[in-house]
Amino acid sequence: MRISVLTLFPEMYSGFLNCSIIGRSLERGIASVDFVQIRDFAEDRYRHVDDTSFGGGAGMVMKCAPVKAAIDSVRTEKSCVVMMSPSGRPYTQQKAKEYASMEHLILLCGHYEGIDARIENYVDDIISIGDYVLTGGELASMVVMDSVIRLQKGSIRDESTDEESYEGGLLEYPQYTKPAEWNGLKVPEVLISGNHQKISEYRKIESLRRTRQYRPDLYERYELSEEDKKIIRRNHLEDEFLTD
Ligand code: ADE
Repeated sequence: MRISVLTLFPEMYSGFLNCSIIGRSLERGIASVDFVQIRDFAEDRYRHVDDTSFGGGAGMVMKCAPVKAAIDSVRTEKSCVVMMSPSGRPYTQQKAKEYASMEHLILLCGHYEGIDARIENYVDDIISIGDYVLTGGELASMVVMDSVIRLQKGSIRDESTDEESYEGGLLEYPQYTKPAEWNGLKVPEVLISGNHQKISEYRKIESLRRTRQYRPDLYERYELSEEDKKIIRRNHLEDEFLTD
């Protein structure tokens, strides 16, 4: 897939794009990333891309014209234009999967106090990566790129994405590696037992516990399957999970 990033600060991306799984995926041609410098589309000789806000208020607002021209410079019929904004829809793993299947993703990064709202007529989606405000959309776009590139075939082992957090509506179970005892802390016995059914049941239960503790909103929405209920009964945890 191709990802085009529209930004005033392309230099922010170099470390991110050159390291680890993302760096390797780009090197192998699993995905490609290109940049459009929005300032190249400024209309005046001082290369201004922002102006004061109608109605008053602190901070500058990015102008529509250079941003629209930047979009048009890379957009094709196959492109999906996504704007980063703290006032967008929440970004989720489901969105990541949707974007991962696209041929051409265009990520638009605002700066200052954001972009003139009329630009919303020229984008397909508006995404927030969380309920906090960043100085610009660049970090948010890196979050989107990372989550989308790792889902490309050949980027990481296919099994790695099968059981991870959010798959099936629960957080991932805790994982451990050697040594089996470290600083007086032991790895749960069952994981060393070699009993695959017991391991899988233990992991499901820990996923449920973790989700209930850290993400009560997800837990509320999760419906226990018949198989989950069997696991809970086999492990005598009815009081913990099956009351109400
Ligand atoms: N730009 C500034 N804050 C942001 C956020 N939380 N998500 C996406 N883009 C942003």
